[in-house]
Amino acid sequence: MKKNNARLELSKEAMKTYGYQIVDAIVEHHDTQSEKLPVALGSREEMDSLFLEEAPEKGTDPTEVLNFVLEKVMTTSTLMSHPKSYSFVPGPSNYISVMADSLATGYNIFSGGWAASPAAAELEIVTIQWLLKIFGFPKKKGGGIFTSGGSMANLTALTTARRIKCGDDFSKAVIYLSDQAHSSNIKAIRVLGFKKEQIRIIPTDIELKFSINKLKNCIAKDRLEGLFPFCLIATSGTTNTGTVDPLVDLGKICKKEDIWFHIDGAYGAAAILSKKGKQLLKGIEKADSLTVDPHKWFYQPYEMGCLLVRNHKNLSHTFTEKPEYLRDIEGNTSEINFYDHGIQLTRRFRALKFYMSLKTFGLKEFRDAITYNIDLAEEVESKLRKSKYWEVVFPATLAVINFRYNPIEKNYGEKELDAINQYISEKVVASRKALLVTTLLHGQVVLRMCLINPRTELKDIEDTFALCETFASEIEEQLAS
Ligand SMILES: Cc1ncc(COP(=O)(O)O)c(C=O)c1O
Repeated sequence: MKKNNARLELSKEAMKTYGYQIVDAIVEHHDTQSEKLPVALGSREEMDSLFLEEAPEKGTDPTEVLNFVLEKVMTTSTLMSHPKSYSFVPGPSNYISVMADSLATGYNIFSGGWAASPAAAELEIVTIQWLLKIFGFPKKKGGGIFTSGGSMANLTALTTARRIKCGDDFSKAVIYLSDQAHSSNIKAIRVLGFKKEQIRIIPTDIELKFSINKLKNCIAKDRLEGLFPFCLIATSGTTNTGTVDPLVDLGKICKKEDIWFHIDGAYGAAAILSKKGKQLLKGIEKADSLTVDPHKWFYQPYEMGCLLVRNHKNLSHTFTEKPEYLRDIEGNTSEINFYDHGIQLTRRFRALKFYMSLKTFGLKEFRDAITYNIDLAEEVESKLRKSKYWEVVFPATLAVINFRYNPIEKNYGEKELDAINQYISEKVVASRKALLVTTLLHGQVVLRMCLINPRTELKDIEDTFALCETFASEIEEQLAS
């Protein structure tokens, strides 16, 4: 390390050495990831003891810092791309996009306005057009924007819906979503300043879909009370069960009632690339806005969400501001400034990874990967149904499956079953061999797998079930004694 380095630079040779060390580490990780333990554990005390220090006044040799990070930071982070990371919505990612992200960061490309980086803006336009076509949105009128993730895409959508439908006065506006909608929607609604009384959480039916009858009743009642139903949030692929709301019917209701139709397809919408998914997602093309997260089932690394809209002018009407310091870079209207289509001004070049991975692998590889994921979950379902120990609680839907340990010869009560399945999950996670957590369905504790990683194999899942059964025997012994 040079003594005086106020330019924050390395020599060319040092940059190369450092860069190759990092690429080597990433490649090694990709090559050996499946042999590692996916789950990282660490208490605040343990992390403090590893990392807590004052900001160092003096620098350290770069390789020394890097080695410390590789040894201590990377090994203490759960691997969401690991084949045995089944929980939440995993992030399978892909190597091409990892490198594309490094390139975008390496050149530090500003993806806010056209004038600064026309090619970056154009690639965002092009890739958004690919997505518009995939989802059957209008090619010319439609538009969209890449965001940091699904939460920001939902917030961008709801901000747009409120501006277009309510203008400045939203005091009487009400918004509808189901009890299975993702929490980021409620967060967005709160961020936008809606009061509790303006939010209608509609109960779902036995299949965990938006109840149409209850929705219709609620809208009618709100109108009678002089309120203004302005937006409905449907989900295409609920986080819990992969359930797709009745999109065709909901679309019709929104059209008839002149309500903004937002679909949160953050994890599930990508399934449209498969035959089964396309069938299930019928009606998605009628949305006014659609959230879809490339960093979930389009296999992109974090952070990449996306909002698609039926009419791109709705985004610019909502987000365009014209400060004097941006007047020289406004450009003409065909040259999109993405800072006018969303919340961020300075934005990283997210489109690049999507562009490079789609160009490299081709859409067909993506279709095959998604089809594989859906088929794998169905195969797991049929294996579970044939087992004496396991019960399918909710069938495989868009690669999500919910199940619980419930051996036929035992006749456990609900409380015991909850305790057993909670125990299994806790022990599996503590073993660090698989990330398998629980959720609640109709009040029951169930285990849930979201199988969107194309590198997860049936063998991985069978090994995990064997592990679960070992822990099940443990707790059964405890219950029996
Ligand atoms: C249906 C749904 N919507 C929104 C989100 C939030 O997305 P993000 O975590 O990218 O902000 C998720 C995350 O799992 C999701 O499953």
